[in-house]
Amino acid sequence: MAYIDWKESYSVGIKLMDEHHKKLISIINELHEGISSGDSEKALRKTLSALVDYTKYHFTAEESLMTQYEYPEYSTHKESHQKLLKALSDLQHQYEEKKGGLTIILKIENFLSNWLINHILESDKKYGPYLNSKGVI
Ligand SMILES: [Fe+2]
Repeated sequence: MAYIDWKESYSVGIKLMDEHHKKLISIINELHEGISSGDSEKALRKTLSALVDYTKYHFTAEESLMTQYEYPEYSTHKESHQKLLKALSDLQHQYEEKKGGLTIILKIENFLSNWLINHILESDKKYGPYLNSKGVI
């Protein structure tokens, strides 16, 4: 069973953003799977950096959609992305400094999955209807 399962209720009504969110969930699941099956630190570090890179990529895409269509809540939304990235990079540094440590990876996994689901449900869902009304589906 996957660590997080995509649910239809997570849909923000924008196809591309849903695809991005699914991909993020699948990397979180991959990380979880890697921990459970005792993957090497090298492999875990690789998955972790893929997760951070994809998160950045997704935030950039989401923010550019918002600016392109002049989404009124853009700055608040961008701020919450920046806070997450800061928290994520702090955790990543902690991990690097301690040269590993499954506890931190578990913390990242747990933190990011909770954050992502809450963020999708509370903030991302708000831009859906707005962008739909501008013809983005
Ligand atoms: Fe977002």
